[in-house]
Amino acid sequence: MASNPFERASSGRSQWQSRAGFILAAAGAAIGLGNIWKFPFITGQNGGGLFVLIYLACIALVGLPVMVSEIIIGRAAQKSPVAAYNGLSGGKTIWSLVGWVGVTAGFILLSYYSVVAGWSMNYIGLALQDSFTGRDPKEITGLFVGLVQDLPRSILWHGVFMGLTTAIVLIGVRRGIETGVRIMMPLLLVFMVGLMVYAGTLPSFTTALDFVFSPHSDRLTAGGVLEALGHSFFTLSVGLGGLITYGSYLNRNDDIVAASTAITVLDTFVALVACLVMFPFLFAVGAEPTNGPPLIFIAMPIAFSQIPGGALWGIVFFGLLFFAALTSAISLLEVVVSTLIDQLKIGRKLATVVSGGGIFLYGILSAKSDLQIPGIEATGPDFLQQMDFFVSNVFLPLGGLAITIFAGWVIPRSTSYEEFNSAKQRDRLYRGWLFLVRYVVPLAIVTIFLYSVLHNLQL
Ligand code: PHE
Repeated sequence: MASNPFERASSGRSQWQSRAGFILAAAGAAIGLGNIWKFPFITGQNGGGLFVLIYLACIALVGLPVMVSEIIIGRAAQKSPVAAYNGLSGGKTIWSLVGWVGVTAGFILLSYYSVVAGWSMNYIGLALQDSFTGRDPKEITGLFVGLVQDLPRSILWHGVFMGLTTAIVLIGVRRGIETGVRIMMPLLLVFMVGLMVYAGTLPSFTTALDFVFSPHSDRLTAGGVLEALGHSFFTLSVGLGGLITYGSYLNRNDDIVAASTAITVLDTFVALVACLVMFPFLFAVGAEPTNGPPLIFIAMPIAFSQIPGGALWGIVFFGLLFFAALTSAISLLEVVVSTLIDQLKIGRKLATVVSGGGIFLYGILSAKSDLQIPGIEATGPDFLQQMDFFVSNVFLPLGGLAITIFAGWVIPRSTSYEEFNSAKQRDRLYRGWLFLVRYVVPLAIVTIFLYSVLHNLQL
């Protein structure tokens, strides 16, 4: 297999195979554990409705404009993040620093992402052994506790997942991945909607609808607002410069605005559907959706213990979840690898093996984490959640801030104008975007950030 997985274009920069290639890869990167694992549990912890509303506002007013910015930077520079910042800013070191911060964020993010993906793989195994049928919610919780307390098992699955991700990036089977996303993504959508329809037959469905969509504010804190902002970055895969690399492979006449909007809508849809699948089953057994990271590993097995043919559906669900996580992980590793290749001038193989190995080793700390599970005693700091806090709520928003300042103020207006309108002239929309990235996004990020910090310091 060629070491460069992309087709060579006449400009010398590789490009996506097909027009849909970019959308598929970016959607594959965006839709992952963030939508199906993380969004439901943070929605549960933050009391639902109002959190969801703020999240949706963050997606539309912050996440989407940042996504457009990243892709514009990438296509204009035709380089991976650090080199792109360097090139477009005339070599100002502060900007390459932003690139490196993004790479660090990607490294840390993938380290714990892979642990959770490993749990999903383990759950494919549990479903294959028909472990959910006939179990009550307490026993189902016990299955998860058994997994996280079994360190070698957690590390093993984390290793298998990281190994797979590294191997795929190493041999560059990108085209295979494009085809995979093309098949699996619609399957995931159909399957999730099917599960939601089934959940819709439960009396608890209306309670779930009310929880997710009516904006009562009882549990939302300043930290929750920051979490909504941070998750809008996490779920769209923006803030660390990953889409700069993807954008650099984009054709001149591809429509950045339309593609970004499509990806954002799809991503948000999957996240909301995931809530409407899980919450009804939890409410039906009288459980609260407040138990954090384990939520999916409790709610879904409860669902599969009730749905006819649940064992089979369990295999399909965790299989699709694994695949969604894999396509996201590939894009994360790609951010780290492409920067190492460009900046350290090392070969693709070495860069991939070193990054993949490093991420695996660092992730062991998260595999070891003592998750706080209600009703079960757990001690010590929860490393996985701490890492997620730093990446999602600190690194990504700050990265997003830098990216919008760069796209709005540093690169020439003529460049962003040309990139924005390359496929279709949209003058008013361009002005709207520019206003958002110049003023609204930076202000929103700084305000939410300070508000949350000050609130935590009780000032
Ligand atoms: N967006 C992915 C998810 O929701 C996670 C991710 C973040 C992937 C950043 C790549 C870059 O699961």
